[in-house]
Amino acid sequence: MSQGRESGAKDAVSRRDFFKRAAVGAGAVAVAGIAMKAQAAEAALTPPASAPAAGPAAASAPSGKTLADVMKIAREKLYPKCRVCPECDGQACSSEVPGMGGIGTGKAFRNNLDALAAYGFNMRTFHDVKKPDTAITLFGEKISMPILSAITGGVTYNMGLKGKMSEEEYMEGVIGGCQLAGTFGFAADGIEDPVSVYATRLQTVKKYGGWGLAQIKPRSQAEIIERMRMVQEAGAKAVAIDIDSAGRAARAKPGETIEPKTPAKLRELVRATKLPFIIKGVMTVQEAQMALDVGAAGICVSNHGGRVLDHTPGTAKVLPAIADKVKGRMVILVDGGVRYGTDVLKMLALGANAVLVGRPVLRGAVGGGAEGVKLVLNKMRAELVDAMVLTGTASVKKVSRSILA
Ligand SMILES: Cc1cc2nc3c(=O)[nH]c(=O)nc-3n(C[C@H](O)[C@H](O)[C@H](O)COP(=O)(O)O)c2cc1C
Repeated sequence: MSQGRESGAKDAVSRRDFFKRAAVGAGAVAVAGIAMKAQAAEAALTPPASAPAAGPAAASAPSGKTLADVMKIAREKLYPKCRVCPECDGQACSSEVPGMGGIGTGKAFRNNLDALAAYGFNMRTFHDVKKPDTAITLFGEKISMPILSAITGGVTYNMGLKGKMSEEEYMEGVIGGCQLAGTFGFAADGIEDPVSVYATRLQTVKKYGGWGLAQIKPRSQAEIIERMRMVQEAGAKAVAIDIDSAGRAARAKPGETIEPKTPAKLRELVRATKLPFIIKGVMTVQEAQMALDVGAAGICVSNHGGRVLDHTPGTAKVLPAIADKVKGRMVILVDGGVRYGTDVLKMLALGANAVLVGRPVLRGAVGGGAEGVKLVLNKMRAELVDAMVLTGTASVKKVSRSILA
């Protein structure tokens, strides 16, 4: 056990060093040994030429950029905040919050990956599932895949992109890319953003009509109600509160409210909007039931990508019991560590209706704007389709837990 931990630590250190060198740019990557590693890293992020296309072109964008090109640009722009590792698993960025990592020891981030990795698949090929259906209807809209962008933001604070990319450009990449891939993208509410900045974010939601959803921090009731009205006016299909940001309550600056919410306060918020109200940051069966009781339309099972409370379990670990309790009575979204289409299929088998993807979409948006996000999402969809064929899963609307080994 301790040996594993030690070798994990060594791996993290060597990756930090490797990506420090690789990220300096194309020139530095010419150093022979490093160049080979970098190519292998990028190859791991590129679908093989033979991969079946998932709907709109899966492997390259109209500009001709491949996913490997996008990731290379993302690495150059994001370093040292993000090393754009071939496996985005929280090893190299452990404890880097603000930044891209998980809080404290980084365990909660890694738990997300480990919980997903704990499941395998029972491969089944004696059937006639040749063209599985990945479309779902969510918040009244048909979308191409059960994969949405997660809520991410903080181009300066988290991504170190001051002068390289504005929050608006980033949001344009995320929501625009989701629209290109036929799915929903989320607009974020930064903790220190005044209403005027939030209004600017919502312009992107408005621009993309039905493709945008929006999140609001657990602010004061009055502030949330005001922002929910703005979200509704922008034409968003749903509004989410990331209640797990409540850890900032004790640190909130004078004049700023970030707070946990009682069921009564949540019920008041649900009643104050016509939009489906999603509570993000639910990690227990009890709170899933409470979310249902207060009238929420959905929950997002999430530990905030391991960024708020160290040592929270992986979401794939807590999801099945939550789904057993509330599935069919509310929308169940989940995020945390989803990197491949196979991860998506696992989450659906464990009871989710759809997944949110954070860091991979972020890398796509920084490296290639909307085209980059589309490439990331379509690659995942192609992998999902393959895995559905090989487990005999005809539709993402009905995924049997028995496909998991
Ligand atoms: C840089 C960054 C910023 C984030 N900002 C927010 C935020 O403002 N609100 C929120 O609800 N979640 C935020 N999250 C958490 C994500 O919505 C999501 O829960 C998490 O990233 C999912 O895990 P994944 O990145 O492993 O896919 C952020 C995550 C990252 C990496």
